[in-house]
This record gives sequence, structure tokens and C-alpha cells, in this order.
Amino acid sequence: MTKVKIIETALRDSHQSKIATRMRTSDMIPILEDLDNVGYFSLEAWGGATFDSCIRFLNEDPWERLRELKDNVTKTPIQMLLRGQNLVGYKHYSDDIVKSFVEKSYENGVDIFRIFDALNDIRNMETSIKTAKEQGAYVQGTISYTISPVHTIDKYIDFAKKIEELECDSLTIKDMAGLISPQTTYDLITRLKEETDLDINLHCHCTSGMTMMSYEAACQAGVDILDTAISPFSGGTSQPPTESLVAALKGTSHDTGIDLKKLTTIAEYFEKLLEKYAGLVDPLSEKIDTNVLLYQVPGGMLSNLVSQLKQQDAIEEYEHVLKEIPLVRKDLGYPPLVTPTSQIVGVQSVLNVLSKKRYSNVTKEVKDYLKGLYGKPPAEINQELYKEVVGDEKPVNCRPADLIPPELEKYTKEAEEKGLVKKPEDILTYALYPSVAEKFLKGEIIEEEIPEPHTEFKPNNIPTQYSVDVDGEVFDVKIVPTGYMEMEPSSKQIKSVENGIVSNMQGMIIKLKVKLGDKVNEGDTVAILEAMKMENDIKSSKSGKVSEIVIEEGSTVEKGDLLIVLE
Ligand code: CO
Repeated sequence: MTKVKIIETALRDSHQSKIATRMRTSDMIPILEDLDNVGYFSLEAWGGATFDSCIRFLNEDPWERLRELKDNVTKTPIQMLLRGQNLVGYKHYSDDIVKSFVEKSYENGVDIFRIFDALNDIRNMETSIKTAKEQGAYVQGTISYTISPVHTIDKYIDFAKKIEELECDSLTIKDMAGLISPQTTYDLITRLKEETDLDINLHCHCTSGMTMMSYEAACQAGVDILDTAISPFSGGTSQPPTESLVAALKGTSHDTGIDLKKLTTIAEYFEKLLEKYAGLVDPLSEKIDTNVLLYQVPGGMLSNLVSQLKQQDAIEEYEHVLKEIPLVRKDLGYPPLVTPTSQIVGVQSVLNVLSKKRYSNVTKEVKDYLKGLYGKPPAEINQELYKEVVGDEKPVNCRPADLIPPELEKYTKEAEEKGLVKKPEDILTYALYPSVAEKFLKGEIIEEEIPEPHTEFKPNNIPTQYSVDVDGEVFDVKIVPTGYMEMEPSSKQIKSVENGIVSNMQGMIIKLKVKLGDKVNEGDTVAILEAMKMENDIKSSKSGKVSEIVIEEGSTVEKGDLLIVLE
């Protein structure tokens, strides 16, 4: 029996799952040497949502992070998660951008690429796998694991053979929601070992509570590599705890060979770190949720859903949305729920619930998905929905990226003209996230504050007497209750205008479709709003001439904010 190797996810997946991908590079650096000395197979530390989070929330350059990680980790390979043709974004990029991104990632320090496609469409993985192999990188081809009437072990084996044909070094079973049962784990890995020559890696989240049993079954079936997270960042929507697995396998034929003592300092470090980020830990993502077995909602998606609903001021709809997700998923032909399909299905479910009428508001992404622009769905999609959203236009059958002309030159020119390029990687940052990257590269992103841990509201603890210092003179001020509290109006004025078009959700205006003086008809799209990372058309509820435009491209708006006034 082989020894089981361990991939530590503390620096990527576990903080993506537990603290909304907000761990700072400066919090990683002090512990890297210790991590490097453990003897892990690799440190998963880059890609996934970290790239987006760096530029959107942390005012950190993801490329700088990668180089710093590489400088401090000399023995253990650095691993990244790459979403095939979507790279670290949410849509398909052109082949030249994919190639350039993989090359630059390798150049800056990624040793191991874990490459997946949300629909298990191998055509969406070809360019990135081939490029990574050409660079000399180690490549893990990935099965996005899910449960549905159409997902059988036979189908997964067929897919694994395609991964093997592309000369991947190993295969990961990526179980985003902890859905895989011990028996299926055993059966799937046994057959993968029989029918391919690939090393097999299992990546699970603890959401359903079955995961440790599945890891044991994986060992029995001869798994080569398992993913775990150091204990403070383990469990719940994250991976199983590293120390527990190391201890459980000690002295067996699957012994990891890792010295438990070396993990103690690391666990202590992350324990302290978790205190700093406690305000980001959502209690929902902490507990075992057997609903996941019904709804197939992966860990990261649950915490995303919670924060999106809070953002839209609709957290009370959480249960509704959970029930809507499987229905939308079925309509879309049972895609595995992983980025970007988890967002596509999740946001559409939110919209279906919030707008009271299902599919009355359809994101651009759902429309593209239905057209086949994300690849081939695992099962047939709802044809009525297709007709309603796409119309008579036929779906595409080719490799989706074949329809995307080269884009690198265009983005290079744009980014240079805007004065955003200080190093070649900046072009890629811009190409992946044009609107956020522009702000980031101009230095306009302010590092988000870590919220305070949720505390009980205790009216008695609010001081009622203050000393106020005005130019050196101290006044005593007493606060007297007046019976009710008046809320300060928000800094952004919410104007109620009879002929105004207001935003129906919180988000960022990424495109204005009208200018002053334009004639607008009821139902026309006047702007495109990026909300919950999806593009939504803002349609005019009335007809008239545009007399005032309150917002501009790049403006952040709240639900109910005035956008445009019609005459
Ligand atoms: Co994961």
C-alpha cells in the first residue's frame, strides 16, 4: 500500500470557505517556513477566488502574493486552482489569454495546476492543461463531482480517460459540497485505479458530515493524495482537519509520514489568526448541514449566498433560495455546482425568489449558459426556458472558446492607453476583471476592514455621558433618550423622482446604455448592473426621454438608488 500524501489548503480553499477568501498575504508569510517543513505534497495557495478577492477587497496584487509565497516556500510545491477556460474569473477567456495566464502563473511560482471545468467539458480544459504541461508544470485534471440522475460512475470513468489522454499527472475528485458517500468514494476510486494509470487525489468539504468516513474509504481504495486543512481552518464548509487525518492514519499502511508535532505550532498560529478574522466566520458555514445532501450546494456557495442575500437586504429568503436552487439546476441540465455554475445557478435562484416570478429577470450568464457558451450541460436543459430566454437561435455545438477571437492584443492596448501597465501581468489582471482591475491598478481600491465579531446588542452598555474636546476645550455632554432613534440618511442621496429609474439591487453599474436626450421605451435596457458577480440588465419601467443621468459607469449603487430620470 502506498503512503497517503497530503495537500494543505490553509492558504487557499480553507480561508475561501471559512472567511470569504479574505486572508492577507502578510498573515501568511510568518508561517510559511513552518508549513514548508512539514512534508506536504503541496501547499494549495493561489487561484480560485483568491485572485478576485485580492484586487476587489484587499488592495493586494495577486501576482505579488504569488512571488512572496514562492520566495518563502522553497521545498514544497505551490499549487493553484484554475477554472479551465475561465482561469480565475467567471467567464470563458480567449485561448491567447488562457495561454498567457498559465505561462505567467508558472513563471511567478505555481508548480502544480489543478484544472477543472464546471461542466466536466474536457474541451474547456484543453488549452490550460496543454499550456501548463508545456511549461513543465505538474497538472491535476479534475472531476467536478456532483450527484444527479445523469451523473454515474461510468460517466466519470469516461471523463477520467479523457483527462489521462491529455497527459495529466494525477486526477482530483473535487467534491465541492462534501456530497460523496463512503461507498461511492470506494467504488469510484477503485475503478479509477483499475481503469487509468493516474494517481488519484480526493478533495472534499465537510459540509455534509460524511467526509472523514469517505476519506477512510478512499484510503481503503488506494487513494494517493488527500486534501486537508489545519484544524482551526478545517471542518464545516472547509476541508477535514490535517492533524486528525495524520493521527488517524499513523501506523497504518496509509501513514502520511507527517510528524504531528510539526503541526502544533502551525495550528496555534492559525488559531490566533482565526480570532482576527472571527467577524467573517458565518455561523452557517460552521455547522454540519445535511441539507446539502438535498440541495447540493457547495460550501463556498453557501457562505456566498448568505452574504449576497444580506447585501440585497433579503436574508429572510435564505430557505426559499435553498429550495429554488435544485429547481434551477434541473432546468439547466444538472450542472455540478462549482464556480462559475454555482454563481450562475445561485444568483438566478436569488433573482427567481426576489422577483417573485421565476425567470422574469434572467442574467446574461444564464442566457449564455443556455446557448451553450459555457459548454455542454450534463443533461438536456428545459426547452421551454430555452425558448423563452434565447428564442429561435440555435445553441452552439463547438468548443465555446473557438467562438472567442484573440483578445490579448486588444486588452494590452486598452490597459496601456489607460496607463495601467507597470508589469506584463497587469495586462492579465485587467483582461480578467476590466472594471475592478482598472480601479485596483489606479490605486483606488481601499482595503476592506475586517468586521467586528457579531456581538449581542446591549442597550445598557451604551454610554450616555461623553466628554467632547473642541479645540482644547472640554465639554460634558449627556445623551438623553427621546423615545425613538432617527436614522441618519445615507451619504448617497436617495431621491424619489416620479420618472426615475431606480436600481432593483445592490451592485456596480458596468455599462450605461443611454445618454442624455435618448428616447427610451418601456422594457429597454438602460444600464448593466454587476450584482453578485453576474450581469443584470436594468430595464426602464416607463417610456420617455433621458433628462438626467445620476450615475456613471463604475458607480456603486444600493437597492432603490436613483439611476436615470426620464422626461
Ligand atoms: Co474546494
